[in-house]
Amino acid sequence: MGRIIDALTGDQDKCEIPGHGSDAALPQGHGLAFTAEVERATAAAYERVKDVVPAVEWPLLAPYVHAINQLKAERNAVVLAHNYMTPDVFGCVGDIRGDSLQLAREATRTSADVIVQAGVYFMAETAKILNPRKTVLIPDLRAGCSLAASITARDVRLMREAHPGVPVVTYVNSSAEVKAESDVCCTSSNAVQVTEWAAAEWGTDKVIVIPDEYLARNVATQTSIRIITWQGRCEVHERFTAADVANLKQSFPGALVLAHPECPPDVLAAADYAGSTAALADWVQKNAPAKVVLLTECSMSDNVAQGSPTTEFVRPCNLCPHMKRITLASIYEALRDLKHEVEVPESVALRARTAIERMLALPPSARPLDFVTGRPPVDVVAMHFT
Ligand code: 13P
Ligand code: SF4
Repeated sequence: MGRIIDALTGDQDKCEIPGHGSDAALPQGHGLAFTAEVERATAAAYERVKDVVPAVEWPLLAPYVHAINQLKAERNAVVLAHNYMTPDVFGCVGDIRGDSLQLAREATRTSADVIVQAGVYFMAETAKILNPRKTVLIPDLRAGCSLAASITARDVRLMREAHPGVPVVTYVNSSAEVKAESDVCCTSSNAVQVTEWAAAEWGTDKVIVIPDEYLARNVATQTSIRIITWQGRCEVHERFTAADVANLKQSFPGALVLAHPECPPDVLAAADYAGSTAALADWVQKNAPAKVVLLTECSMSDNVAQGSPTTEFVRPCNLCPHMKRITLASIYEALRDLKHEVEVPESVALRARTAIERMLALPPSARPLDFVTGRPPVDVVAMHFT
C-alpha cells in the first residue's frame, strides 16, 4: 500500500474523523464482542485494510464487520460504498464500490432485496428511484450534501422560465424533486458528454447545467456549448485554491496534483489531471506516479492507496461531514432495524427516473472520462434566486 503523508490546506490542522477510529461507538454497546470466531471470520477483511487501520482499533471494528456481513446474508442485502467512505466501511463491508455513476449503474443490476447506501442521501434516493420495489436504507438521515441543499424544484422551474427551450442537465448531487424538473442527469464522470448530448438532442448551443457552479464552469472549458448554471457549491471542494496547488507543488517536489471537477476552475487550470473520483483512482492505478496529491475528499487517498503500493499520497485533510456520518455502527443499526428507509413519491420518482435513465442510456465509456486541465476560464451565466 502507498505511503500517506498528511498535508495542510484550508483551516484543518489534523485529519480526525468524528465517529470513526477511537471516537467510534463501542461494539459492546450493541452486545457485540471481539471473540476468537469474529477474529477468524474477519481476518481476510483486516488484511485488506491493515495498512490504514491500526491493529489496536481492529477489536472495536471487527465485531461490526462480522455482524454486518451476517445481516447482509440474512436479509439478502448489498452495501453500495462511495469512494469517500472510510477504509473500514469501503474495504470491509462495501459490496459495490465506486463513484456516483458506477453506484447508480450497479444499483440497476443488483438482485438484492435490500440496498444500504454507504454514501449520502441523494445517492440513496437515486438507488430508490431506480429500484422502486426494493428496500433502500440510508444509515444516517443527516448524510446530506451542500450541492443538493443549494437548489429547489421551484428554482429549476424559474430557470426554465428565464431560458425557455434550453435543456436542463442536473448533476446527480441533487434532490429527487430537482431531478424530476430536469431533462437529464449527469455525474462528474460524464458531465461534458451529457451536456453535448443535450445540446444536440434539443438542437441548441446553450445548456443549463445545475446545481454546481464550479462543475458547470469546468464543463464550459471543455466544450463550445454555452453554459447557464446555478450558484451551488460543494463545501469540501470549494475550499481548494490555485494557491494550494502551487504550495503543494513547492512543498512536495515532483508531486502530481489531481483534482475533482467540483474544485474551482483555477484549481483545474493548475492541476495535472482532473476527473471524477473513479477517474482519479483509475489514473493513479494505471500510471503509478511516485507522488500524488488528490484534491478531493480526504478518505479517497486511503482507499486508492490500497491498490497503489509504489505511490506516495500527500493527503489534504478536507472531510465531507455528510459522508462521515456513515459508520460501521450506523450501517449495523440500519441493517438490524431496517432503517432509515428511503421513500420517493411515485409522481416525483417517475419524472426523476426519466432524467436518470436518459443518462444511463448513453454509451458507457470504457474508462471514466477526464477533464483536460490547464484551460483558461470561460464566461458562464450563474443564477441565484433569493
Ligand atoms: P463522484 O461522482 O466523482 O464520485 O463525486 C461525488 C461527490 O459527491 C463528489 O463530491
Ligand atoms: Fe456533497 Fe461535496 Fe460531500 Fe460530495 S463532498 S457529498 S458534493 S458536500
